[in-house]
Amino acid sequence: MDNKIYIFDTTLRDGEQVPGCQLNTIEKIELAKSLEQLNVDVIECGFPVSSPGDFNSVVEISKNVTNPVICALTRAVEKDIEVAADALHYAKRGRIHTGIGTSDPHIKYKFNSNREEIIERAIKAVKYARRFVDDVEFYAEDAGRTDNEYLARVVEAVIAAGATVVNIPDTTGYCTPWEYGEKIKYLINNVPNVDKAILSTHCHNDLGMATANTISGVMNGARQVEVTINGIGERAGNTSLEEVVMTLKCRKDLPFYTDIDAKQIYKNSRLVSTLMRMPVQPNKAVVGRNAFAHSSGIHQDGVLKNRESYEIMDPMDVGVNDSVIALTARSGRAALKHHYDRLGIHLSPDELTEAYNKFLLLADKKKDINDSDLMVIVGVNRNEAQRKIRLKFLQVICGKNSVPMATVKLNIDGEICQATSSGNGPIDAAFSAVKQLINRKIVVEEFLVQAITRGSDDVGKVHVQVENRGNLYYGFSANTDIITASVEAFVDAISKFI
Ligand code: KIV
Ligand code: ZN
Repeated sequence: MDNKIYIFDTTLRDGEQVPGCQLNTIEKIELAKSLEQLNVDVIECGFPVSSPGDFNSVVEISKNVTNPVICALTRAVEKDIEVAADALHYAKRGRIHTGIGTSDPHIKYKFNSNREEIIERAIKAVKYARRFVDDVEFYAEDAGRTDNEYLARVVEAVIAAGATVVNIPDTTGYCTPWEYGEKIKYLINNVPNVDKAILSTHCHNDLGMATANTISGVMNGARQVEVTINGIGERAGNTSLEEVVMTLKCRKDLPFYTDIDAKQIYKNSRLVSTLMRMPVQPNKAVVGRNAFAHSSGIHQDGVLKNRESYEIMDPMDVGVNDSVIALTARSGRAALKHHYDRLGIHLSPDELTEAYNKFLLLADKKKDINDSDLMVIVGVNRNEAQRKIRLKFLQVICGKNSVPMATVKLNIDGEICQATSSGNGPIDAAFSAVKQLINRKIVVEEFLVQAITRGSDDVGKVHVQVENRGNLYYGFSANTDIITASVEAFVDAISKFI
């Protein structure tokens, strides 16, 4: 059996079910792209039949993300499966995740059914999903409380029906690590066709054992783990991605590996916390503020003499910035390169020159340049190089007693053109001037401004989604001037269909 552990991220599905953590489509695309950089194997990004918003997110993520498998959740219901298949239309590799409750309480109270009927429905759902995609994952909901003998029959039947992955969720977070590991081992030993599919863990943290249960599942034969960033999820949450990945990485006695780029972990943790407005507890393993902070004198002394005295992993391994080289307007290229290398971003000499010029402009306006700023600098670089339309000039007049006016100059495929327009605010005026120059029907569907961190001199990030001829296009930019960032993001979106 291969020892690669597939990372199935469900931050955008199970994680997003947390009350108050809902994201709009633009935010979901941003997070999905960041998960792609983290190198997760599968992104579960919604339950398409549940709402038009979830449907649209699966469509847009499928269009904007290339490498990971894109997965959509369904019940064992034909309509759900058809809608999920539709939503996955643009996915390079799409997976339908269908399933049904298999524990006695689910069979009796939720479905008013019996064990044989549930097996029939499971088989039917998997076969139906296989008509649309080659990759079908089946979940046996509440498998944690399902009797092992019956569970083995369900697993055998769905694999025979064409399931490529079988998920064994501890839906209520009730199992102990020993019990959950034994369950996986039982299935490995008692399902005759188990080698035709991958078994997956999906653990909830109601008793604080989600990570332990997941590791126990892996040690007993599971080869996919379903996890969320920061362990967010319903009630006490899901298994946390960073805890599982770092356990497998730190414990050299465990023969397993993942393809995760661990240096991206901290960045993803911050992004999820910011987008979902969900603070990370200070003592959270791996990504909490105090995870690497040694406060006692004995520990500080030990760590200064040799890190390994009290640390089992280097903060840098997960992308936590503990560098002492500060970045200011006086920093040179070598310092900038050092920081990009530290973040796992390796720039060519030309890319470094371009990033350095942008860095100097930003450092002139802002005292402390942080990691988010550095990411924004290279993100903007890469976008700009591919654009057919560029913003060359922008001037706005606005204030309490004046009519907002904007003058915009665009370079459209080498040709410079200019327009002036009024609006109900400076951004509306500038967007309207851009529209005059583009001369196509463009509708702004979503517009989101985020301040990245602390002070009023900070970089603002702007995400825009526009509609043209029935299709949606996404644009992004960042700048200390949010009006410029807004127009740049608008132009970025438009350049995708011009
Ligand atoms: O916890 C659970 O059982 C689930 C399934 C829908 C996969 O989230
Ligand atoms: Zn779940």
